[in-house]
Amino acid sequence: MKRFYCYVSALCLVWAASCGSSDVPVYLDDSKPIEERVEDALSRMTLEEKVAMLHAQSKFSSPGVPRLGIPEVWCSDGPHGIREEVLWDEWGGAGWTNDYCTAFPALTCLAASWDPSMSAIYGKAIGEEARYRNKTVLLGPGVNIYRTPLNGRNFEYMGEDPYLASRMVVPYIRNVQEQGVATCLKHFALNNQEYHRHDVNVEVSDRALYEIYLPAFKAGVVEGGTWSIMGSYNLYDGEHCCHNKRLLVDILRGEWGFDGTVISDWGGVSDTRQALDNGLDLEYGTWTDGLARNSGGSDAYDNYYMANPLLEMIRSEEGDAAKADIAKVDDKVRNILRMIFRTSMDRTRPYGSFATQEHADVSRRIAENGIVLLKNDNSVLPIRPAEVSKILVVGENASRRMTIGGGSSSLKVKYEVLPVEGMRNVYGEDKIVCMKGYSSNPDEKVESLDELRAAAAECDAVVFFGGLNKKGYQDCEGADRKEFGLPYGQDEVIAALAGANPRTAVVIISGNAVAMPWVDSVNAIVEGWYLGTEAGNALANVISGAVNPSGKLPFTYYAKLEDCGAHAFDAKCYPGETSEGGDGSDIYAGERKPTEQLEKKVFNERYSEDIFVGYRWVDLYNIEPTFPFGHGLSYTTFEYSNLALDRETMPVDGRLTVTVDVRNTGPVRGGEIVQLYVGDNESTVERPVRELKAFDKVFLDPGETKSVKFVLDRTALQYFDADRHDWQVEPGTFTVYVGASSRDLRGKAEFTVE
Ligand code: BGC
Repeated sequence: MKRFYCYVSALCLVWAASCGSSDVPVYLDDSKPIEERVEDALSRMTLEEKVAMLHAQSKFSSPGVPRLGIPEVWCSDGPHGIREEVLWDEWGGAGWTNDYCTAFPALTCLAASWDPSMSAIYGKAIGEEARYRNKTVLLGPGVNIYRTPLNGRNFEYMGEDPYLASRMVVPYIRNVQEQGVATCLKHFALNNQEYHRHDVNVEVSDRALYEIYLPAFKAGVVEGGTWSIMGSYNLYDGEHCCHNKRLLVDILRGEWGFDGTVISDWGGVSDTRQALDNGLDLEYGTWTDGLARNSGGSDAYDNYYMANPLLEMIRSEEGDAAKADIAKVDDKVRNILRMIFRTSMDRTRPYGSFATQEHADVSRRIAENGIVLLKNDNSVLPIRPAEVSKILVVGENASRRMTIGGGSSSLKVKYEVLPVEGMRNVYGEDKIVCMKGYSSNPDEKVESLDELRAAAAECDAVVFFGGLNKKGYQDCEGADRKEFGLPYGQDEVIAALAGANPRTAVVIISGNAVAMPWVDSVNAIVEGWYLGTEAGNALANVISGAVNPSGKLPFTYYAKLEDCGAHAFDAKCYPGETSEGGDGSDIYAGERKPTEQLEKKVFNERYSEDIFVGYRWVDLYNIEPTFPFGHGLSYTTFEYSNLALDRETMPVDGRLTVTVDVRNTGPVRGGEIVQLYVGDNESTVERPVRELKAFDKVFLDPGETKSVKFVLDRTALQYFDADRHDWQVEPGTFTVYVGASSRDLRGKAEFTVE
């Protein structure tokens, strides 16, 4: 009997194996190629089901196909941690208790590590958090170029140099996506300021577009393979970037072969026809039926440009016109399905993990690698715990939570170690004396300068934690900074403290450069960024010397605003102006205005500095910045020697190997970021004096030497020829510069390109 049952069940298995698979629709069959699955799913969908997939259904989700079991898309900000769950229809928190996340350092800090392995661990950890929270899409990373230090969102980006940002963004993307979560690279493109972000129309040369503003996006698409990208709010060439033909159709899909989903920034769509024709796939944005028209109520989703208006448009068409538009809808659905198959319908994707000790450790390591020691005269730092009995900790930012604020990147964290807590952890409670020094609240009274001076003089050392704070106009989405200087009277406080105690260290918490009128009178300055969950511990570890700082600036620290190319011209260059020369306050002042009003006026901005952004500008005009691009000190010193090229002449399509020895000549182990710049000595077009073309971060014990090797190819030599729409290399002599910053060049050598 038993044998009979075995026989029957074996027969059943054979039968199931031979014909059972035909019961599984192709789109659900993992063994089939994704493109076949996409086509199969598409062939089963009605037009209504397709259009439903093209727009949001809640603040952060859009429909799947319930009838077919195709899951919804769930997005989350990004880019520094997984945002709390919000209500279906409102920005308010949903009040869940299982969404306290790990906050990772802001992307400026990641860029300041100049270490792609830090991007890799960042991407893996944040990807695991996104996966655990069941997100399809992580809204980040951001790679808009740092054009002006006033941009309120620079802290979410990777600095001023396209090469550095390109190298740092790729591992972040790859490692997030290995967790089965799509990154959404943002904000594509030319979203370099928050002022008038919804209606500024950027005019930029093709050369600057291709050399400065696009490379990091291209790297994220082509090398990183991002599965989605976010169109930006602003306009380029008179068209909103969420449905901009040149950017999305010609460049993104045409030149770069992007096959993922183009997602709008929230409320960034303003025209059904343009969105259908010009490459947008998925419209998001709540409480609005697009960029301009506030619906003023919940459930406006059916009114979205890519919802009923699209359906009605297609239904009113006939013949070829209808067919052509349905084909466009099909293409969009394909792009979204492809992303879903790569993420939530990938049965092999990992399960993720959330708010773990391991992630906190990763966050702290990245923070410690990105903190930049800007100045350290007379070895004020490190302040070794054994050397001091009292440290005065001053400044509101010593005890201000920085994971909150700043706009959409604000986080609900499991915990955040404040700078003062980190100081107490390292030095012990008894050694830390606290004073507020200044307040962001104009009604709050704090100590007088005399009181601060007296306290500073009594302590062995003073550490001031100030800077910006992610409030409106102070590194925050939706508005630019109004001034380059520090707010709340901090300059006077710093000058008073430094005058009373020469062992004063100033720690700037910010995502932007700030004016430092006191730079010569303060002996030690640290750029402390927004560091996330482990902020206080990372800062205190650097201040005490437990960690040797090894970050370098990913942007130029200008001495004054006018030293920045974007501020060296008229108002049209920054912040932009209307066609009548107005400041645009009549068309937009932070609040969205109805389409009809927006259409009346255009707010234009011309990038007159062209390719000369950041160090490219100050180098061209020999302007002395407070701290140059690539600058950062260590508690040890490094010596460069034996710079050598493997050849004197390089064929255009050949390779050139550059080697240099770097030796740790100081007392402690440390990391040095060795930077390689290339300059074209004679050129028929104007070119930057030199441009970053390679870098490597090496860690050395005292006395240890490492030989650092760089291999250059034509991409290190070329410029973008707009007339030919191609990259060109002009034969002639070039110079390779190797150094510790864009200004601290330790060696150079010439070679000839044939
Ligand atoms: C921001 C995006 C963000 C989105 C969702 C927009 O206002 O510009 O960066 O991902 O909101 O929060």
